[in-house]
Amino acid sequence: MKFSGKVAIVTGAQTGIGLAIAQRLAGEGAAMVLADIADAAPQARELQAGGARALALKVDVADEDSVRAMVERTVTEFGRIDILVNNAAIAATIQLRPFEEISVAEWRRMQDVNAMGPFLCTRAVAAHMRRQQSGRIVNITSGTAFKGAPFMLDYVASKGALMTMTRSLAHELGPAFITVNAVSPGYTLSEGNLGNTAFLATYREAAIATRALPRDGWPSDIVGAVAFLASDDAAFISGQILAVDGGSVYH
Ligand SMILES: NC(=O)c1ccc[n+]([C@@H]2O[C@H](COP(=O)([O-])OP(=O)(O)OC[C@H]3O[C@@H](n4cnc5c(N)ncnc54)[C@H](O)[C@@H]3O)[C@@H](O)[C@H]2O)c1
Repeated sequence: MKFSGKVAIVTGAQTGIGLAIAQRLAGEGAAMVLADIADAAPQARELQAGGARALALKVDVADEDSVRAMVERTVTEFGRIDILVNNAAIAATIQLRPFEEISVAEWRRMQDVNAMGPFLCTRAVAAHMRRQQSGRIVNITSGTAFKGAPFMLDYVASKGALMTMTRSLAHELGPAFITVNAVSPGYTLSEGNLGNTAFLATYREAAIATRALPRDGWPSDIVGAVAFLASDDAAFISGQILAVDGGSVYH
């Protein structure tokens, strides 16, 4: 129960990798906020049934007021914030297309959710973590930003931004003993990705072919790295990007 007494917010926790992370942190004792633009109440109830303290909040991470309300409600409910996992993203719903076909509106929304969202969430929790002189922030980036994956330029750009934000934020928040790290999954069979047949056909076998460990990746493969970086075991690690992809990218 290494997160006993800790309070964690996981954004995008209604499904996929975010839900798996929330389940792990709750299973190890964290009071959990499942923050999602979709309704995560059933998922929160499931955690409560297992004995966890859990709260579902409807949040658009790209909306400043919505994020502020998420943080205020968390502190009202649980008293503090120890862990923020910036996982919410436009991800499994991606439609692969040449960059010339990406509209300005699509580009902007992608950056708003995937890059500005983590900025707004981090900014909103920072005051609380600074007061505590402790905190763990884990950003979920993507191997596509290392690899330069084609046909999703808006997505790759947003994840590249999040990687560089991880390093700069580590320096800005380090004096308050707040760590900021990232986990970079390879192609992972989340429920959403399993439902995106074009994406699946393009990436599933191709991803496996690049791996030292030649098998599919699942949400359960990602959570251990996140739990480690969110724990006290990682107290002296900051600004790092940990690839969890079966041994595909080296950096
Ligand atoms: N699955 C993969 O292959 C893979 C690979 C690399 C990185 N990632 C990253 O891992 C994370 C999770 O991936 P996934 O496959 O579970 O994604 P997913 O698309 O299945 O789930 C994303 C979640 O974020 C929520 N969300 C979307 N926009 C939101 C917003 N504006 N505000 C709040 N919540 C919002 C969705 O409702 C959903 O619950 C993402 O950051 C993704 O970019 C995934």
